[in-house]
Amino acid sequence: MTASGVQVNTLTSATAAASEGSQVQRMAVDWRSGETRRTPAVMSAIANLKGGVGKSTTTVMLADGLSYFYGMTVLVIDLDPQANSSQMLLTERGVQAASDQGKGAHHLLAEFVAGRPASAAPFIMPNAVSLEELRVAEEQDERRGWISILPSHPQLRLREMGLEEDWYSRTGTPTSLAKSLTDYFRTAFAPLETLYDVILIDCPPHLSPLARAGLALSNVYITPTIADSVSTWGTKQFSEWIGTHVAPDLAERNFVLITRFRDTRYARQVASDLRDVYLKDRWFGPTIPESVHVLNAMDRPAYDSYNTFRGKYGGVKQDVRRLAERFSDFLAQRTGSTWQKIRD
Ligand SMILES: Nc1ncnc2c1ncn2[C@@H]1O[C@H](COP(=O)(O)OP(=O)(O)OP(=O)(O)O)[C@@H](O)[C@H]1O
Ligand SMILES: [Mg+2]
Repeated sequence: MTASGVQVNTLTSATAAASEGSQVQRMAVDWRSGETRRTPAVMSAIANLKGGVGKSTTTVMLADGLSYFYGMTVLVIDLDPQANSSQMLLTERGVQAASDQGKGAHHLLAEFVAGRPASAAPFIMPNAVSLEELRVAEEQDERRGWISILPSHPQLRLREMGLEEDWYSRTGTPTSLAKSLTDYFRTAFAPLETLYDVILIDCPPHLSPLARAGLALSNVYITPTIADSVSTWGTKQFSEWIGTHVAPDLAERNFVLITRFRDTRYARQVASDLRDVYLKDRWFGPTIPESVHVLNAMDRPAYDSYNTFRGKYGGVKQDVRRLAERFSDFLAQRTGSTWQKIRD
């Protein structure tokens, strides 16, 4: 199956006539009222059932890359109770501070449990920017490129487990919970869709009700995987599961990338099998090397410390740039929305 020219879910084709960055380019004319409006954000799950394949790292690299190079406004939704992308963006203390301020997905889940109206905005940290250039732009009142986060917290899993038990004892079945959560989140996130260009959902390496809701909400799926046989197996299983239960047209919506790549003959063979034999109908992003620069980039010393893009990513800055470019091309092909680069 080829992927070209496919329209995704509710995404409509946007006019690409603009010259001043993503804000303008995503304006589309409403055919009923004739008014211009922003096109809704693309919601993208970063998911794989296999653990440790670089989902959270890819989430952060993409958030930085899209906001830095294209001026996109990005919301990260962390649905993994391990809270790794939250920690990478906010620091460990920042995650706790956010929770203490009532921010986070676990607080939103408490609203669901209490039966209160669905609204995600009060639980979002509006500033998860760690790049000096984006902070400076903000200070100069030129907010082009920004990152916000609905953080996670380890309490998320405890709340979810309590909810699962309660749901099961009331309804006799756990399966309808994922559907109810999906509906609730869809309403909660709907007002945000015109505020952001891209919403990245960092999913946990399992299929809990929350994880299934994150997958069901998404328009596209980013699948990071490692070039070894166990990860390839896990990726195939995961693709089959999503393809059967969530997105029958998965191949058209799937952006696959190989992470933590060690350039050996074995890894090259596995990567080429993945591309040419197992997932040959997918869109492949760039290969991200295994590098200490990636580890350093994910280590933010303090919530108020900022780094330049070059300083943060060191020797992998070209890899992050290629990742942002390739994903932006992928979105353009599938949604019709195009973004112009604001930096090189
Ligand atoms: N390109 C890379 N080079 C070196 N280390 C990396 C790279 N990508 C990820 N790592 C490291 O590998 C580990 C797993 O990465 P990460 O947490 O992003 O994976 P994950 O798929 O989100 O894991 P989980 O399934 O537990 O959520 C982390 O310690 C991370 O720092
Ligand atoms: Mg993770």
